[in-house]
Amino acid sequence: MSTHTGKGFGQNDPHVTKWSELVYKPKDAALDEIIRRSEAAGLPDIAVSSFDGLHLEVLVRASGAKKVVEVGTLGGYSGVCILRALPADGFLHTFEYSDKHAKVAQETFEKNGVASRVKIHVGPAADNLAQINQDGPFDVVFLDADKGGYPEYLAWAEEHLRVGGVLLADNAFGWGGVAREDDGGYPREQIAALRRFNERLAQGGRFRATMLPTAEGLAMGVKVR
Ligand SMILES: C[S@@+](CC[C@H](N)C(=O)[O-])C[C@H]1O[C@@H](n2cnc3c(N)ncnc32)[C@H](O)[C@@H]1O
Repeated sequence: MSTHTGKGFGQNDPHVTKWSELVYKPKDAALDEIIRRSEAAGLPDIAVSSFDGLHLEVLVRASGAKKVVEVGTLGGYSGVCILRALPADGFLHTFEYSDKHAKVAQETFEKNGVASRVKIHVGPAADNLAQINQDGPFDVVFLDADKGGYPEYLAWAEEHLRVGGVLLADNAFGWGGVAREDDGGYPREQIAALRRFNERLAQGGRFRATMLPTAEGLAMGVKVR
């Protein structure tokens, strides 16, 4: 059974989670269909939670973004959330390592009527991000792929976001590992990379940044220089 819905949202109180869902309605039939089809295709159950999808849509709307970059497409769930926030002339470049995941995402974008406003770049993002350098500067960059790559993706975003642009990164708490001497049992190099990423975002001087305390930590920075 899918664990997609909550991921511990709502202070780990199921009543708070249920109440929040009733009031804010983070899910709908189209988003549920993406999760069902992704599971049927054998994709891992690691899309953003329904509330994180809604956070993304609202934050991208608030930023007034037209040009967005996502690292980590999976089946296109968060991509659809981002695309819902963009104006008709908005565009999303999304980067995905797996050809299998990219195929599901392409179907997602077609079914949701947004395929003309999104391009999936298949392969390692660290190699492929340079393909879009000339289309920048970008308004929002959302990181949700391999945690070991976050410092490199942040370095790219420092150069290719506009001043005033927004960096968002999911799983920034490293499932608790960033704060624990034993790394919480997660691979040491991934946790070390997440620590470097957070420290650079918060203290590197290019962003004014905070940590939104979602279930898994959504780091958010506005580029200031
Ligand atoms: C957590 S999932 C993304 C979930 C997606 N953002 C959503 O919420 O619908 C992470 C994705 O990143 C991809 N990935 C892992 N390493 C990558 C890399 N080096 N470059 C690009 N994508 C990568 C994985 O194949 C996986 O599909």
